[in-house]
Amino acid sequence: MIAITGATGQLGRLVIDCVLTKVPAEKVVAIVRSPAKAQDLAAKGVIVRQGDYNNPATLEKALAGVERLLLISSSEVGQRAPQHQAVIDAAKRNGVKFVAYTSLLHADRSPLGLAEEHRQTEAALAASGLAYALLRNGWYTENYAASIPSALKFNAFTGAAADGRIASAARQDYAAAAAAVITQAEPVNKIYELAGDSSYTLAEFAAEIARQSGKPIAWHPLAQQDFAALLIEAGLPQGLAEMLADSDAGAAQGGLYDESGTLSQLIGRATTPWQETIAAALKASQA
Ligand SMILES: NC(=O)c1ccc[n+]([C@@H]2O[C@H](COP(=O)([O-])OP(=O)(O)OC[C@H]3O[C@@H](n4cnc5c(N)ncnc54)[C@H](OP(=O)(O)O)[C@@H]3O)[C@@H](O)[C@H]2O)c1
Repeated sequence: MIAITGATGQLGRLVIDCVLTKVPAEKVVAIVRSPAKAQDLAAKGVIVRQGDYNNPATLEKALAGVERLLLISSSEVGQRAPQHQAVIDAAKRNGVKFVAYTSLLHADRSPLGLAEEHRQTEAALAASGLAYALLRNGWYTENYAASIPSALKFNAFTGAAADGRIASAARQDYAAAAAAVITQAEPVNKIYELAGDSSYTLAEFAAEIARQSGKPIAWHPLAQQDFAALLIEAGLPQGLAEMLADSDAGAAQGGLYDESGTLSQLIGRATTPWQETIAAALKASQA
């Protein structure tokens, strides 16, 4: 049996759909915090089990009989190391044979502040004695495409990544990679540095939004602190604003760049061009 945590999340839902193209639904366990949000998954025939990263007893039950586990990293930044440790401990107690974990691109040397909790989880996996794979995911192109509505509103695209090149891929690409690793007998304790086939600077990203929308979109580079202040002024919680500004500053240092081509090799096709993700976001913003 294959289990996927975070199955009601954006990545988790895409992974479930990819896994279902390879494995019968009755062998797939969707581990979710709120089963009420997983009715669509149950309708696909997958086994839905409740499991909260903050509640080890639920994890223990959710992992019964599971052989291969995809641990999708929690979205509760700041609490993730103990949460992931709880999943790893429950996996060990249940005799899970293989754990794949969604980490961050070049987590071992990444300048992004977000990398620290991933480093702690990678260390916990190594110490656990379990067989594992590290899916070190780069940025989702959707992260930057989410700013398209405000770019259209203000005719400006802002960020703190300076001239850093960003090799992002679509969430769907990372989902296909996770599904491949969790369903195939992959070599164990392997590290996958996953990123898009092509890269851009945020100036190029802004120019592409302008080209596709036919609207003037100016690129306004900001210093990290100024970008964080702007995001807070726009209504984002302080922690999230600071995290996004820090990630951009890390991207300025090359933290979101990789040219290994590992992601496209793993999924057997090219990654989704970032221009296509912009096109989809523009279409959604006009709907
Ligand atoms: N590579 C990137 O660019 C990037 C960007 C953003 C995030 N991430 C990381 O990748 C992960 C997956 O991305 P995503 O887009 O799918 O994020 P997402 O849509 O926010 O999904 C996060 C998932 O984590 C689950 N979760 C949070 N706290 C939990 C808890 N205490 N117990 C059990 N489950 C819990 C959520 O459950 P609910 O459905 O109940 O909320 C949700 O299913 C994120 O959680 C984050 O660690 C990566």
